[in-house]
Amino acid sequence: MNIYQTKDYAHMSKLAANMMTAHILLKPDCRLGLATGSTPIGTYQQLVAHYRQGDVDFSKVCSVNLDEYKGMPPDHPQSYRYFMQHHLFQHVNIPPIHTHLPNGLAEDAAQECSRYDSVLRAVGGIDLQLLGLGNNGHIGFNEPSTSFAKTTHCVDLTESTVEANKRFFKQQEDVPRQAYTMGIASIMQARHILVLVSGEGKAEIVQAAFMGPITPQVPASILQLHANVTVIGDAPALSLLPSEVKTVTNAPIPAF
Ligand code: GLP
Repeated sequence: MNIYQTKDYAHMSKLAANMMTAHILLKPDCRLGLATGSTPIGTYQQLVAHYRQGDVDFSKVCSVNLDEYKGMPPDHPQSYRYFMQHHLFQHVNIPPIHTHLPNGLAEDAAQECSRYDSVLRAVGGIDLQLLGLGNNGHIGFNEPSTSFAKTTHCVDLTESTVEANKRFFKQQEDVPRQAYTMGIASIMQARHILVLVSGEGKAEIVQAAFMGPITPQVPASILQLHANVTVIGDAPALSLLPSEVKTVTNAPIPAF
C-alpha cells in the first residue's frame, strides 16, 4: 500500500486526477470503477478540466460505479446516477452506454444484483477502482458485518451511514435505508485501487482501516491484502498515521 499525504483537499484532488488521467492515457479503453460521496468531487472536477484542455479522451473508457440507493429514480438529485451525470459524465465524452450503475428502481433485487455482477464480468473487471471511505469504514456500501460480502448485494444501511448521509437530504426520513453495492470480492479483483480520504473526521477510521486488524467490522481493512493500493489523503485525514508509512508530498502538482 502506497500512502501519499497531500497538504489539502485541492492538492489531493489534483494528484488523484493526474493518476486517473495517466491510467486512461496508458490504456484508452480502461475500465474505471467509480465512487460517489463528497470526497471525489474535486477529482472529477480536475478530470473534467483535463478533458476540456484536450489532455484526455473518454471515448473508449467504460465505467462501473460502486453503488446506488435502492428505490431511487436515476433523475432524483440524490441518486448516484444523477451525481455521476452532474459531476462527470455530462461534461466528458464517455459514451452513455459505457456508464454502468445499479438500477435503483429494479423490481427484483436478486435479479438486479446478478445483472450487475454480469456487467462486471462482461466489461472484463476493473482496471482502476476509485474508493472513498465511509465514517464506519465502509467501501461502496459494504457496511461493517460479520463476513466480507463477495458479490453485488442489497444492503440495509447502518444508522451511522444514514446519519452521515442525511446532510444530502432535506430530512433524515428522506435518506434511503437500503442500497445496492458491488461486493468486496469484486472491489478486490480490481487491478489497481485508489482510495481518497479527506478531513479530520476520517483520521480515526483511516488509522483503523490501514493500520488495524483486518476484519469485516472495518470493511476497508481488507484493502491491506490487495497488492496494488494507493491511498491519497490530505494531512488532517492522515494525521494519525505514523510518518514512516506515508510519503508527504507538499510540492506543487504539475497540471496536465
Ligand atoms: C457513501 C458512498 C461511499 C463513500 C462514502 C463516503 O456512503 N456509498 O462510496 O465513500 O459515502 O462519503 P464522503 O466522501 O462524503 O465522506
